[in-house]
Amino acid sequence: MILVVGGAGYIGSHMLKLLRDQQEPHVVFDSLENGHRTALQSSLFVQGDLRNPDDLKRAFDAYPEIDLVMHFAAYISVGESVREPGKYYNNNTAGVLNLLEEMKSRGIGKFVFSSTAAVFGNPQYVPLDEVHPKGPLNPYGHSKLMVEQMLDDYDVAHSFKSVCLRYFNAAGADPDGVLGEDHEPEEHLIPVALLAALGRRPTMKVFGTDYDTPDGTCVRDYIHVLDLAQAHLLAVRHLRAGGDSRKYNLGNGEGFSVKQVLETTEKVIGREVPKEYGPRRPGDSPKLIADSSRIRQDWGWQPAYPDLEQIIDHAWKWRLAHLEGFGD
Ligand SMILES: NC(=O)c1ccc[n+]([C@@H]2O[C@H](COP(=O)([O-])OP(=O)(O)OC[C@H]3O[C@@H](n4cnc5c(N)ncnc54)[C@H](O)[C@@H]3O)[C@@H](O)[C@H]2O)c1
Repeated sequence: MILVVGGAGYIGSHMLKLLRDQQEPHVVFDSLENGHRTALQSSLFVQGDLRNPDDLKRAFDAYPEIDLVMHFAAYISVGESVREPGKYYNNNTAGVLNLLEEMKSRGIGKFVFSSTAAVFGNPQYVPLDEVHPKGPLNPYGHSKLMVEQMLDDYDVAHSFKSVCLRYFNAAGADPDGVLGEDHEPEEHLIPVALLAALGRRPTMKVFGTDYDTPDGTCVRDYIHVLDLAQAHLLAVRHLRAGGDSRKYNLGNGEGFSVKQVLETTEKVIGREVPKEYGPRRPGDSPKLIADSSRIRQDWGWQPAYPDLEQIIDHAWKWRLAHLEGFGD
């Protein structure tokens, strides 16, 4: 059985859908601080906080058949991590340490971790492959890179096997329209643009127009949330087959500037996105584009939804059907 930590959140809830479709036994552990009960659908659920070891014990005691953990839970705002680093190290790093220790004490040594392109910082070359030097520009990226380091050390000391999946920009929504991206506050480009276009935000703020990129705005690689979930499934198969620890970059290998994403959004939804150009935000890398050839070669991972217009269209369909978000 898989323990899905942070399964009530955006990416975790899409993972749950795939696990249910695959009839893969699983149980969710989530504080619901940022996730949504509605997004859990029919999955088993334990409410608890990673930072409280007793909550973790309760979950593992209740489901002794857990043999693998997928870890999605974290605070995710780069800007907030610059302002409140302690909050990020406490949840994203110390919280994971609690989890690893609880797993170790029970002899559970299979772990799939949501890492991030933020571990790289300023690119020395693009696209970024797995061996590109690491140099996070913000505490969020550091909090994740530290977990990658802990996982290396647990492997050496305890034969703990992990797969770190470094997502670039997760985007889109399940095309069925039941699940979508609903953060509070929402800071990700595509959902914020959609909310602004709907008049639910006064304007879309663009941070920085003087980066060393073709149009001066930051460039990112957008990857469909279901393609991320699919990579997790491959990681589960790999670890259950006795596979070794791995780290993979996950993106489509194509960069889009903020301006390009906003233009594409306007084209897809047929509405204007009200926008306002402002200064750079601390902690942002100018350009993050993934080289995902390693996971493609090793596991045959292939994005099913690589097209940015389709990614935006799925996000738009969900937003139109859920103007108030999940509402819980
Ligand atoms: N969204 C992206 O573009 C992106 C990119 C790279 C990496 N990631 C990583 O992917 C993971 C999932 O991101 P997301 O966008 O789904 O985030 P999210 O905020 O939607 O989901 C996180 C979930 O974890 C839960 N959670 C947080 N702290 C917890 C704690 N201490 N105990 C129990 N539950 C807790 C929240 O309630 C929430 O349901 C995160 O680890 C994030 O760092 C996301």
